[in-house]
Formats: sequence, C-alpha cells, structure tokens
Amino acid sequence: MSGPPFYPNRSDPSSLRPYTSLMKTIIEPFRIKSVEPIRMTTIDERQNALKKAHYNLFAIPSEDVMIDLLTDSGTGAMSSEQWAGIMRGDESYAGAPSWYRFRDVVENITGMSNILPTHQGRASERLLVEVMIGHGGAGKGKIVPNNAHFDTTRANIEHSGCATIDLLTPEGQDPNSDAPFKGNMDLDALENLLSERAADVPFVMITITCNSIGGQPVSLENMKAVRKICDKYNKPFILDACRFAENAWFIKQREPGQQDRSVEDIAREQFDLCDGSTISAKKDGMVNIGGVLLFRDQEQFVAASNLLILTEGFMTYGGLAGRDLEAMAVGFQEVLSEDYLRYRIRSTEYLGEKLLEAGIQIVRPAGGHAIYIDAAHFCPHIPPNEFPGQTLAVALYEAGGIRSCEIGSVMMGEHAHMELVRLAIPRRTYTQSHIDYVIEIIKEVKANASSLPGYRISEEPAALRHFTAKFEQVVHANA
Ligand code: F0G
Repeated sequence: MSGPPFYPNRSDPSSLRPYTSLMKTIIEPFRIKSVEPIRMTTIDERQNALKKAHYNLFAIPSEDVMIDLLTDSGTGAMSSEQWAGIMRGDESYAGAPSWYRFRDVVENITGMSNILPTHQGRASERLLVEVMIGHGGAGKGKIVPNNAHFDTTRANIEHSGCATIDLLTPEGQDPNSDAPFKGNMDLDALENLLSERAADVPFVMITITCNSIGGQPVSLENMKAVRKICDKYNKPFILDACRFAENAWFIKQREPGQQDRSVEDIAREQFDLCDGSTISAKKDGMVNIGGVLLFRDQEQFVAASNLLILTEGFMTYGGLAGRDLEAMAVGFQEVLSEDYLRYRIRSTEYLGEKLLEAGIQIVRPAGGHAIYIDAAHFCPHIPPNEFPGQTLAVALYEAGGIRSCEIGSVMMGEHAHMELVRLAIPRRTYTQSHIDYVIEIIKEVKANASSLPGYRISEEPAALRHFTAKFEQVVHANA
C-alpha cells in the first residue's frame, strides 16, 4: 500500500501532516440544528405565479420559491450563538447591555468609536447624505464618485439633488477580465474629477465588495491611493462596507504581501483608511436586520445622532430591538472566521466554475456573495431595451423555482454597465446539493434559451423601479 498510513501515530505530531492534503472538499463549517421546509412546486404553479406577479420576481410570494437567490441581504441563517444572543437581548430604551456589547465589537473591528446603530444600510445612507450633503435639493450641482454606487446609495444621494458617478477601471467594466481587484476605483478618473470640480464633491465613496459589478473586491493598494487623493483635495473618504469581511478575505488571497495577515487585521486596515462608513449588517453582519453608521469626525457624528433620534430611535438602539444588537455583535465576530470565509468564497466560486464549464458566461472571476450571469450572452436574441436579464431571471423561476435578480437595464436604467442576472448566495443557508440543482436548471434553460421572450415595462414608479414595475412579454418570431 502506498501513501501515508491511515491511522496517524499520535505520539509523533509530524505524522499528522500528510492528512491535511486529504481535505480537498471544503465542507460547510457548520451542521444544521433547525430546518425550514422548502415547498416543491410544479411548472404550472410557477407559470401562474409569474402571471399574477406581472413577471416581477419581487412580487412572487417566497413560499412559491424553491431556491431563493434574490439577495444575500438579511436572508442568511443565524448561528446558535446568535440565537442565544437574541434571548440575552436587553430591551431597555437607553444604555442596554446589548448596546454596549454591540458597540465594543464594532469598535474593536473598525477602530472607530463614533458608532450609530441603524435599522439597515439605506438608513445609514440617508443619514450620511443628510449630514454630508443636506436635503431638499441641497445637493444640486454636487457630485459623489464611487467605484460603483449600489442602487439605494445612488438613490439616496440623488434624492438630495446631488449627482452620482461610477469610476470603475476598464477591467472592472469588462466581464471577461480575470483581474483580481475589479472593484478598484479608476484613480486617474478620480484625480481628474477632483482637479476639475473639487468644490462640488462632498465626499468620495468606495463600495466593498463592489456589488453592482459582481461582488468584486477592492485592493488595499487602491484604497490607500484613494485615501491619498482624498487627502490632497481635503475630501472625506466614506466606505460602504456591507461586505467588508469578504473583501478582506479576497485581499488575503490575492494581494501580494497580504497572505500572512489575519482577516481581522486586514479588515481593520480597510476601516483605518476611511473617515466614515455605512454598513448594512444584513450582509457581513450575518443578521436578518440591522445596520451601522460610523464617523471619525465628532461634529458629523453628533449631527447624525440628532437625526437618528428624530427618525430612527435613540442612539443606543437606532430603530432596532436590543436583541438585534446582540445578534449583530455576534455576527460581526463570526464573519471574520477564516474557516467560514474559506467555505463562503469557495462555494460561490464552485457555482461559477460549473457555469463556466457549461459555456455560460459569468462576470469573472466569481464574486464573493454572488455569481452574475451575463444575460446578454445567454439570450443574444433579446436587445437591451427588452431586458435580457429579466428574460433569464423569469426563465430560471419558471424552470426551477429559482429566484434571482436582474441587475441590468431594469434596475440601473441608463447607468447599467452590463445586462446581468445575479444569483446571490444567502450566508450558511443552502447546501452544495441545492447549488448543484441550480446548476442543472441553468444548463437546461440555456439549452432552450433561443425560445425565451423579451419584456417591456407596462407600469413603473418614479424611482427604484425594479421593485414594483410590471412587465409584459414580447414574444419573438423564432420563439
Ligand atoms: N450598499 C450595498 C453595497 C448593498 O449591497 C446594499 C444592499 C446596501 C448598500 C443597502 O443596504 O439593503 O440594508 O438597506 N444590498 C442588497 C442586495 C439589498 O440585494 O444586494 P440595505
């Protein structure tokens, strides 16, 4: 028999070493204590549900969804420690122990002590905008750059009258580039903007990881360079840090010289570079609801605290229950576990790998929280004004009860860089066989792609139209 002995000699620690090479499968680093049944549906049921929903997947009752990849936001499973925290939660109006635990954890991770809890990321964004830009048209003539704004960030900034601009590098806009840090900001473009319009820029923002273009990471080197440019023009640097731990993991894996650092250490450096941060804890906070707003500047913090009290709640709970603060305190620590992050990023990459093997174009390389299918490539017969992303998203639901999310011309309007369909992976929720099923369904839809219809919008609201728009099918001659 060749190879290492099956039973290691425990008196000799070096004999254990060969076994590490046997750990090829990265298993889910948890076991399941509580389960939620999935209701199996038929194609007929799903076709009816689609008609009733006017082909908008946000209007489908989630009980009619088998695998819900609409978002990774607030849809993850909490750990037994988090549920224990929920029981420990103290509901005092002011100064609850839950608040102090939450505050200490956030301060420890970010190094910032001006901490406000909010009910979710967009509440943090609204407060940030009101403090740093103003409201009621105060933003007219101003502009906020980002690597790429997430839709709620963009909408909140634009609500103040301020314009937004995405300054991605050329690789970031190329779905086929395998560049390691496609979320990086185009530094020349930022420098140009500031040299021409410094007075109009209230702050510079970077989103980690960059959701709008595929959950792509930003390097420390890029963030350091942005910091320098901000210093040169005396501009605050704000981090949208929803997926700060996933970004830190990518830095550890991909950025030269970062391999030997802990994820905590890298995460801390990310925050050290910024003047403030908005965080939706529904992502890397591993909770179902919650957010954070951080400021280094005391005056901005006080102004935001006053607004928080006005519209969200007192500063020590910010529109949340005490138990939510406990769940966040635990979640922010758990997300920095390297075993968790290794599994998390690898399982997303696995889905991406299998789709690429099947000839399906995705935004490469795989993102942290999601795989983004290039719907324009998937359905080449559907022009952008008939929303190829909507076509694919509806087809995945019809064929397999899988709910995904269009991120293209429906969601982003004229800001769309690409026609994408996002398969967002909720944290610690689905197993590998769920993902294998998703792969099977996508391959089947691909085999029939040329018969899929396009869509037109029959009704839409003034802003954030993807949530509530109604659609009609546009059937093509060859269908
Ligand atoms: N910033 C980014 C990068 C986000 O991905 C999100 C939410 C927000 C801000 C807003 O946070 O939802 O807590 O108010 N993204 C979710 C998604 C909705 O599906 O990607 P929120």
